[in-house]
Amino acid sequence: MPPLTSRPAVAPAATEPDPGAEQSVSEPLAFQRPDVPLGPTGRPVPDFPEPLPVKEHGGARIIAMCNQKGGVGKTTTTINLGASLAELGRKVLLVDFDPQGSLSVGLGLNPHEIDLTIYNLLMERDVTLHDVVVPSGVPGMDLLPSNIDLSAAEVQLVHEVAREQTLQRVLAPAVEHYDVILIDCQPSLGLLTVNALTAADGVIVPLECEYFALRGVALLKQTIDKVRERLNPRLEIDGVLGTMFDGRTLHGREVMERLVQAWGDTVFHTVIRRTVKFSDATVAGEPITAYASTSTGADAYRQLAKEVLTRWPAE
Ligand SMILES: Nc1ncnc2c1ncn2[C@@H]1O[C@H](COP(=O)(O)OP(=O)(O)O)[C@@H](O)[C@H]1O
Ligand SMILES: [Mg+2]
Repeated sequence: MPPLTSRPAVAPAATEPDPGAEQSVSEPLAFQRPDVPLGPTGRPVPDFPEPLPVKEHGGARIIAMCNQKGGVGKTTTTINLGASLAELGRKVLLVDFDPQGSLSVGLGLNPHEIDLTIYNLLMERDVTLHDVVVPSGVPGMDLLPSNIDLSAAEVQLVHEVAREQTLQRVLAPAVEHYDVILIDCQPSLGLLTVNALTAADGVIVPLECEYFALRGVALLKQTIDKVRERLNPRLEIDGVLGTMFDGRTLHGREVMERLVQAWGDTVFHTVIRRTVKFSDATVAGEPITAYASTSTGADAYRQLAKEVLTRWPAE
């Protein structure tokens, strides 16, 4: 029998640096420690505490759901984060701020049958918030609907005094009634989106986990920085949300890795996976938390609601 070879048959010891890795951090990262289970973003997922019920409603935090790219999950996140926060006892107001009206349609409204919309609230002095708000079908969650009329506001607002503060002004009376106000922005960085960023305390940026996801993000960040400097010093980025994630593909995992490299802990631990249930729920005109209450998609948004609450200042 030949003697056993002295060369090890297995991979180099774990202490040897991996030539493929690009790590400049001295502390071992979580993925190098076998004891820590990792979440889809490559970081260990903390336990998000069960949020306490709110004693009194009001003092709403206003969030703009913002990315100038279309089809990244802004509207889906607005509906389902809103519904999940409402399940946690928060009073939620959703603002459809896209002339396409997808948020309104996604909650079962017919855009042609809506009498008053956010457009009337923005442009007509005698229209009040109370006139425009409608129930969303989800207990504890209301909606300021929109339709194609809103596209005219973009042009008309240009001639207004304090044109960037118009949404902030009309939303002001809602702050004392709600705990959270979520603004679903249109896919552009025009005047409507600047209005949303001026009204907001925080921004959530949904990013589709695909190759070109980070394109345009620098411009978005510049816009947020400009609005913070010139119009709204309290504006924060509350988080970047990976959507339509497919963890089975190397591609999906690579994009997620790049996202975390670029944005660090701004990236939510919660990740929304790709599933057709979301389009089914839209057709049904319901949040996924109602349409497929026990689905993984519904659970992901419930987890996001808890994670978001850990990031916001105490209520
Ligand atoms: N996690 C997901 N998995 C699969 N489809 C999704 C997911 N999130 C959203 N969608 C679908 O992708 C499309 C675009 O999403 P949407 O939320 O309308 O994006 P945006 O508002 O950014 O344009 C919709 O048809 C929606 O149903
Ligand atoms: Mg949308």
